[in-house]
Amino acid sequence: MIYLDNAATSWPKPEQVYDAVSNAIKRSGNPSRSNSEEARAAATDIIETRGALAQLFNIADPQRIVFALNATDAINLGLQGMLKPGDHVITSQMEHNAVTRPLAYLEDAGVMVTKVNTDPVSGADLDEIRKSIRPETKLVAMTHASNVTGALNPIEEIGTICREAGVPFLVDASQSAGAIPIDVVTMNIDLLAFPGHKSLLGPTGTGALYVSETVSPRPIRSGGTGVFSEVRLQPEQLPYYYEAGTQNTVGISGLCAGVRFIMERSVSSIYFEEQKMVRQLIDGLTSMPGVTVYGPLTSPRAAAVSFNIEGMDCADVAMILESYYDISVRSGLQCAPDTHRMLGTFDMGGTVRVSPGLFTTADEIDEFLWAVREIADGE
Ligand code: ALA
Repeated sequence: MIYLDNAATSWPKPEQVYDAVSNAIKRSGNPSRSNSEEARAAATDIIETRGALAQLFNIADPQRIVFALNATDAINLGLQGMLKPGDHVITSQMEHNAVTRPLAYLEDAGVMVTKVNTDPVSGADLDEIRKSIRPETKLVAMTHASNVTGALNPIEEIGTICREAGVPFLVDASQSAGAIPIDVVTMNIDLLAFPGHKSLLGPTGTGALYVSETVSPRPIRSGGTGVFSEVRLQPEQLPYYYEAGTQNTVGISGLCAGVRFIMERSVSSIYFEEQKMVRQLIDGLTSMPGVTVYGPLTSPRAAAVSFNIEGMDCADVAMILESYYDISVRSGLQCAPDTHRMLGTFDMGGTVRVSPGLFTTADEIDEFLWAVREIADGE
């Protein structure tokens, strides 16, 4: 099987991740609750994972990393915690439903939402962001990289605009965390939401929100923290303010191994290698008659590439790739209907998305291109 659906979830994971998960699930006890040596080992894994993530994103205080179920859950905490009726939020037109749906609920509750013009290649319009900021603007919330096309929003420039205007900045790093260097300080990011199971190579069911000292979202969950049990509401210390209930210690132990694996290689070198495969993909696809590639054709970009074959339904192309060539991709609207409206692919049901990962080889890309050429030629 050739797996080219890493934008959905990375596969395979490094052996160290499988081992960490397998070891962690065999441990007794509950970190911060039980006293056993094994429970303490689990607590140590959690501390080390926060530390590794802090190093990866240049976060000074690891305690400000709040574990969540996934990036969507982290984004929900950021958006629901920061916005109340009467507030205004600015977002882009290439968001995943992880951002647009929580914002739609908030809009129904009286939050004003501006979706600034977004270019399929260069991302959100900076002038429009500047002009849209008003006294009620309480947040700018944008994806770093489109999960459909790999296009980047100009995060650093947006961060500067936000800092100058005194507006907090939330970044959805679902497609970039672990694959594109992120520095919350130089990028002026106040809230960074990311999944553990994509380019950080951890298991599903893991993710986190970095909450900077400049913001204090309201908690959206409450319950046991294992410490400060005498306090009536959530203790205000982080991460307890936002983490209620038993954590996914098994998943977090696996995530720790994934993050370490990445840090041994460095995100810059991972980015460099993935860009070579993206170049090979785009050169191959754009040379085929009847094939349209959407979004940026050059770097910088994330590794997801979207295309369509003239006269063919994207779902049929994906089904043929899967059934006849054993190649996994994702087709359809990829949970990002706004992006497809922007690209003009909404009415055709979306695109075929191909997303190489850390373990994809040049030979696999060649085989994929050969298969697409055959399908496009009607063979
Ligand atoms: N958000 C993931 C994707 O784009 C699941 O496929």
